[in-house]
Amino acid sequence: MKVSVIGLGYLGTTHSTAMAKLGHQVIGIESDHSRLALLQSGKVHFHEPGLQEELQRQLASGRLVFQSGHNEASKDCDIHFICVGTPQGSNGEADTSYVVSAAKELAKNLRPKSVVVGKSTVPVGTAKELKNLMSDIAGFEVHLAWNPEFLREGTALEDSLKPDRIVVGAWDNYSVEKVNEVYKPILATGTPFLSLDVETAELVKVAANAFLATKISFINAMAEVAEAAGADAVALAEAIGHDERIGKKFLRSGIGFGGGCLPKDIRGFIARAEEIGAGTALEFLKDIDQINLRRRDRVVELARKELGNVSGKKILVLGISFKPDSDDLRDSPSLEIARKLAGLGASVTVHDPVALPALKDKSGLTVESDLVKAAKDAELVILGTEWKEYRELDPSKLDVKGKIVIDGRNALDVDKWQKAGWKVIALGRNIKN
Ligand code: UDX
Repeated sequence: MKVSVIGLGYLGTTHSTAMAKLGHQVIGIESDHSRLALLQSGKVHFHEPGLQEELQRQLASGRLVFQSGHNEASKDCDIHFICVGTPQGSNGEADTSYVVSAAKELAKNLRPKSVVVGKSTVPVGTAKELKNLMSDIAGFEVHLAWNPEFLREGTALEDSLKPDRIVVGAWDNYSVEKVNEVYKPILATGTPFLSLDVETAELVKVAANAFLATKISFINAMAEVAEAAGADAVALAEAIGHDERIGKKFLRSGIGFGGGCLPKDIRGFIARAEEIGAGTALEFLKDIDQINLRRRDRVVELARKELGNVSGKKILVLGISFKPDSDDLRDSPSLEIARKLAGLGASVTVHDPVALPALKDKSGLTVESDLVKAAKDAELVILGTEWKEYRELDPSKLDVKGKIVIDGRNALDVDKWQKAGWKVIALGRNIKN
């Protein structure tokens, strides 16, 4: 099929590459000229394992091209995927202005037979507004479907090509059939295809992210209790996780969730629920958000407990991305901890295997890409992102002043660090040192 993908951020870049890999003829549309030039030269503007190589293969095959706007070729597409961002607005709500502009521009360049498929995460009710708006501009009833995306950073391409399920919401069968057709190679492997009403399809994404955030904050709330009771939240998660109804996934306690999705999506969900008169139902998500943010303060508190006044003390933060295998710094828990400590006068050095170039605002932080140099004379080390490099680190290589480590991700081998003479402090655990 001929496919256009509008907006080449994390989602659109991955989706356009995946669509080309499935054999479609894909046109990626991006209005930011420097990002476009980079993509045209075969470079991906963020760190995602395996994506750049696949994108280059698809560019070379001729199935994937990138351009700045609509033209005759893009008008000819069977499906147009809208993949632009919906950042957090000033009151927590999702800002849909990029989706609206992309839809307006597309409506001016749309053929009646083409199907518009929204993939961006939007507040429930947005698709209906867009359908009306686009139909008015186009002068015909636009075929619109909503098809949420569940990809995770770090495994984005794999998640796109082998999703757990494909969800589509539409008003007409023609749109559902076109979406089914575009995903045919994936569906042929037995992937469930769920055709829902549009509002439910819109809700699926935010509900899934709210549930995942709730799981993480649940275990982090248990970590708070464990800290007060002298118990161990990691052992607790393992023990409750044996119950299949609970499961072990997404119960890793630590400094909590960050990134471009979970925090913003729960806030956007709360804001929309309030707008439609269902605010009470999502009151609990405010606690989920607060539990998550409290974990960051807990690390600062622990650092002060260990060092007394942190002012002037050298602290090394290992990892600044919101999760390993990503250079995404959006709402990164470890970066916020580093900034908070720097705000208290600590001399904070940050290290990360990949994400340092993505750190534009370095104020108050020392950036060091050589781990041995970064650690030199540190009085405290904080593990903020559980990169493999840190999990496998030999602590005796670090020439520090104080052998104290706060494991913010419960990812370190406590025995190994203790044997090397370190005091290990971990969130939600009462480790005997
Ligand atoms: C998430 C959803 O998983 C994905 O389906 C959606 O499409 C986008 O948002 P992503 O933001 O890439 O994906 O990261 P994810 O793996 O979900 O992790 C989110 C955050 O939660 C990270 O900061 C991670 O460190 C943290 N986390 C995750 C925990 O603290 N504990 C856990 O047990 C799992």
